[in-house]
Amino acid sequence: MKQLDHFTPYSIEFMQKTIDFLMREVKTFHVRTYGCQMNELDTEIMKGMLENRGLTPATEENADLLLFNTCSIRDLAERKALGKIGRLGKLHENRPVIGITGCMANAKKETLFKKVPYLDFVLGTNNIHELNAILDEVLLTGKQPVKVDSRFEHELDYTSAKRTDPVKAHVSIIRGCDKFCTYCVVPYTRGPESSRHPDSIVEECKKLAANGYKELTLLGQNVNSYGKDKPEWSCLFHDLLYRLDAIDGIERIRFMTSHPVDITRNLMEAIRDLPTLCEFVHFPIQAGSDRILRKMHRLYTKGEYLDKVALLRSIVPNVCLGTDIIVGFPTESDEEFEETYEVMKAIEYDCAFLFSYSQRKGTPAMRWKDDIPEEVKEARLQKLLTLQNEIYTTKREEFLGKEVEVLVEEQNFKDDSLLKGRTRCWKNVLFSGEKTHIGTLQKVKIHSYSHQTLMGELIAHNPLSLVI
Ligand code: SAH
Ligand code: SF4
Ligand code: F3S
Repeated sequence: MKQLDHFTPYSIEFMQKTIDFLMREVKTFHVRTYGCQMNELDTEIMKGMLENRGLTPATEENADLLLFNTCSIRDLAERKALGKIGRLGKLHENRPVIGITGCMANAKKETLFKKVPYLDFVLGTNNIHELNAILDEVLLTGKQPVKVDSRFEHELDYTSAKRTDPVKAHVSIIRGCDKFCTYCVVPYTRGPESSRHPDSIVEECKKLAANGYKELTLLGQNVNSYGKDKPEWSCLFHDLLYRLDAIDGIERIRFMTSHPVDITRNLMEAIRDLPTLCEFVHFPIQAGSDRILRKMHRLYTKGEYLDKVALLRSIVPNVCLGTDIIVGFPTESDEEFEETYEVMKAIEYDCAFLFSYSQRKGTPAMRWKDDIPEEVKEARLQKLLTLQNEIYTTKREEFLGKEVEVLVEEQNFKDDSLLKGRTRCWKNVLFSGEKTHIGTLQKVKIHSYSHQTLMGELIAHNPLSLVI
């Protein structure tokens, strides 16, 4: 008898806890988001679905349902999320229903139940439309369902997204990735490329414009692949841009991210010709050495990349460039790292995201030893960070005394007499102004700068510059 009591799954205590859990009502929710803009948008959609079901938002300490929309891009991203989920699960007296969504759901599937005590369900990036169904299953049966399709096949109701930003909106145009860079988990967590029908995108963007949104950021792992998987639509990325530019009320369109190999002359000309399309291109080089680029399966050489940058700069002379760089890829020598450094110095990016290589299970790069010591990776990262900070400083100095166009986004959270906005090239600007300026385009003269931000003064109000 005593032994049976210890055989937990059948103990009276276990049965009572299960019954208590099944009897619980789920009225409130909280979603914690990790990772990229695609996850942020997926969170907004899930929040909309839960609110339509009648649930209300709550803090993570009080919610009846906790969702963790996770990221797998680097080991640290996964460890952060797992630590947090474990801690929160334990804190609650009446434990909440806990679900893991996002890229880690696809990467780890049912093995997550072993890693996370108190986990109730796992819902992958391609199954968001099943959120309410999986919740019903958990609440009605107490089972621990796992839904992780390997490709995106169901249209999502993007219009139900619960957006908190009143000025800028993310719009999904293509999901998944077919590029298979050897270090990257995304093709396995999000599946193959799947473009969204242009009519559905245009319809959503018109609604956003009617609701007062001024800036759209078109999202995809590789937006330049848009439409290639659906030749019958005859609508490639630049074609879509022409359709979206024609929508009344939208002042700015951005996109992210783009793979250098797919950046076409047509796209460059669209940036030059379409008034709403911002002159900012995220153009991730990842590494400066041809051998490492080949090993990463990036599909371009340093020379081809530089030629494309030169072509883009000749077509759009005021274009700003962003990049992602990985240091410490397996076997990267000091000389090869120096090539990355030299390219960064030559290009002078306006924005750079710098990462240490992190070995990811299931990726082709796993076959190589992660042989660059952490302290070497760190030193390389620091060297690039120092260079990039010098570049940022020089670029900010060039703004002093200049006028820029700012889309006003919000009041500064520390001092609400200051407004915060961005230039077309994604630079943060702070200046004094009225709350009524939020959502308008204003001209600001830059007088100083601090670390990441330009500071300026509103140029005498020109009512014509007001867009609402
Ligand atoms: N589709 C985007 C990238 C999405 S992931 C693109 O190709 O630009 C964002 C960035 O994370 C990548 O550009 C890369 O620089 C970095 N990254 C991806 N996998 C990584 C890994 N295993 N280790 C370190 N950085 C990685
Ligand atoms: Fe990952 Fe490469 Fe696809 Fe970007 S293009 S998501 S880095 S596989
Ligand atoms: Fe992370 Fe998935 Fe985005 S791995 S970066 S959340 S696509």
